[in-house]
Amino acid sequence: MIVSGSGTQSLAAELAAETNHRLAGVSFEQFPDGEGIVRIDGTPEHAVVVASTVSDRAHVELLQLQDAAREAGADRVTTVLPYMGYARQDRAFESGQPVSARAVARAISTGTDRVLTVEPHESSVCERFTVPATPVDAAGRLAAELSAPDPLVVAPDASAAELAQAVCDAHGSGECVHFEKRRRSGTDVEVEAEFALDRPVADRPVVLVDDIIATGSTMCQAARAVLDRGAASVTVACVHPLLVRDAYLRLRRVGVDRVIGTDTIERPVSTVTVAPAIAAAL
Ligand code: R5P
Repeated sequence: MIVSGSGTQSLAAELAAETNHRLAGVSFEQFPDGEGIVRIDGTPEHAVVVASTVSDRAHVELLQLQDAAREAGADRVTTVLPYMGYARQDRAFESGQPVSARAVARAISTGTDRVLTVEPHESSVCERFTVPATPVDAAGRLAAELSAPDPLVVAPDASAAELAQAVCDAHGSGECVHFEKRRRSGTDVEVEAEFALDRPVADRPVVLVDDIIATGSTMCQAARAVLDRGAASVTVACVHPLLVRDAYLRLRRVGVDRVIGTDTIERPVSTVTVAPAIAAAL
């Protein structure tokens, strides 16, 4: 039985259809003090809880869903984290800080037998769980949305290079480069493109690929670099379209033609479902 979090209803329904699992009825309510409460209808034997932890509230909701599934009689719980929040805090950046990815992974592990997480920022985050955890590859899903022949596929930083190459390989045409990025703050980044742009850019379609778009600062900088060199079009593709505040507007205003994201996070750009990739790994 697929048990959906409040923010992943579309993906959960796709996954139920893909796997022929039943889709549980789940209600989400709030007490007057603001605390949330969930209720699962039905008695699952194997509960597949699908929830992206995009906020602290969503983290608590996931823990509640896992616990409610056990209460409802599930003897096996699999947790699917389409998007795992706090995964980018994979080390203590300054003394006195926690390794937040480890802290949340431990908490999630207490309520499940197994974890699947789609395209985590670093696959090593799976080692932070105390139950078996597997990363799910989404590159092929993103590539299916691309149609331009012979694009220049660009990762805006080295950590996205592997994903961009996988998208390029799955697309079956084009070539792949990566830029370098220096982050000065949460919203201020500098993208160094010069050294990577010895390939022809003028009049060529460009696809920028990253795992996450949060404020859009990284992709805006990368888009400016290729548009300044005459790119014919710029498509921005990401697995996790967090798109906080005015990120979408910023991308379009800088000259990006199209933004593609997956349904790990439900946004208007989430046109690609990762359900087949999750189903294959279940
Ligand atoms: C971090 O390294 C990630 O891969 C993304 O590049 C980052 O989260 C994007 O953030 P923003 O959209 O705020 O620049």
